[in-house]
Amino acid sequence: NRAPLKITVIGTGYLGATHAAAMAELGFEVLGLDISPEKVAMLERGETPMYEPGLEELLRKHVAGHPDSSGRLRFTTSYEEVAEFGDIHFVCVNTPQKHGEYACDMSYVDSALESLAPRLTRPALVVGKSTVPVGSAARLAERLTELAPVGEDAELAWNPEFLREGFAVQDTLHPDRIVVGVRSERAEQQLREVYATPLAEGSPFVVTDFPTAELVKTSANSFLATKISFINAMAEVCEAADGDVVKLAEAIGHDDRIGKKFLRAGIGFGGGCLPKDIRAFMARAGELGASQALTFLREVDSINMRRRAQMVELARDAVGGTLLGTRIGVLGATFKPDSDDVRDSPALNVAGQLHLQGAQVTVYDPKGMENARALFPTLRYAPSALDAVRGADAVLHLTEWREFQELDPAALGEVVAVRHVLDGRNTLDPVLWRKANWKFRALGRPTA
Ligand code: UDX
Repeated sequence: NRAPLKITVIGTGYLGATHAAAMAELGFEVLGLDISPEKVAMLERGETPMYEPGLEELLRKHVAGHPDSSGRLRFTTSYEEVAEFGDIHFVCVNTPQKHGEYACDMSYVDSALESLAPRLTRPALVVGKSTVPVGSAARLAERLTELAPVGEDAELAWNPEFLREGFAVQDTLHPDRIVVGVRSERAEQQLREVYATPLAEGSPFVVTDFPTAELVKTSANSFLATKISFINAMAEVCEAADGDVVKLAEAIGHDDRIGKKFLRAGIGFGGGCLPKDIRAFMARAGELGASQALTFLREVDSINMRRRAQMVELARDAVGGTLLGTRIGVLGATFKPDSDDVRDSPALNVAGQLHLQGAQVTVYDPKGMENARALFPTLRYAPSALDAVRGADAVLHLTEWREFQELDPAALGEVVAVRHVLDGRNTLDPVLWRKANWKFRALGRPTA
């Protein structure tokens, strides 16, 4: 009987913090690394730097030193410790969009590898999970053998991650599928051992080469982005023809070749993944001489950005043609509900455009206020939905938090200047709002 594998997780953002806690939950001894001592201290207290449902509970269940914890999970800033501890090292650092370019910034991945590899004095499997341009794994594998004192006994594998923010814990413990890009039987076996529990629960396990594993991730995100932009393009046509995109989505979604999911029209996709991933994918295809294959993604991107502009148009129209001097109440700042993430958030982008056009914009979001304030300090922020819409000439619903679906239109109607609501997410019930004497408008839906 061999000793159970010891696992390290490098980078403790959404992906890494969740992966580390999930690995401890699956029974492994886990050491997480972050270069930020503040982050490490927080995680050791069982706190997360971001809001992610269920994650703090899972951390506290396992972080060493907590009452009744399994003690299987620890954090460090030391690469020496990580190299000495782990049989398998998961690289979970982020790969943002390069400043002013479409391409992906690989500097965090590169520096993680450059820090870890020279310290590997015993056999190890280094597993990339970050979303990277195709071809990165092959390059990193070469660099790993060059730098590692154990040479070929340090091996690379690629294991893309498909978790959604807001569902990170659930998606990590019960993945739809596990994809591994490997170059050896040994690497495959080790990864099967890591994922034995989800495999036993029926998660499909797809074994492939490096480039395919990298491409699975970028193509999955491109497909999802395309699906959203498709329905948003239909919303544009519905607006021109006086059709109803919500009904249309429902009706086409009954065809299970199409499916109901990811067909919600609105102000489009944002966040730290879909927008930058499709752009990085286009940039990489260009380098490979295959840019023509992905020209449609440019259209996907521009449909997406047009929806934000259309929302601003609708607001301008609602307040009588000019935004200057009007008051707008904005519900939602994060790029999606159940997250405090405001990266490339369509909601904040729309709020910002309204502000730049002279409106006095007051924003409320259940979890994203702190991040929104840091990113957009010139907007006003209110402590509740009711306070955000007080005195408003129009109310914009821009992130579909459950809290907003449960709002009482009559109560809100008491405090606004004009009962005019614009639904940018198509999740409010028009019948309810109209019954309370609100003028209700939504993207891709008929006016009355
Ligand atoms: C996405 C992928 O879903 C995930 O598999 C990948 O690992 C990372 O990127 P995430 O960024 O967390 O996950 O958000 P997701 O739930 O995919 O939503 C992305 C954006 O699309 C949000 O802004 C959301 O509001 C928007 N969206 C989603 C729509 O506008 N309409 C829809 O029907 C679905």
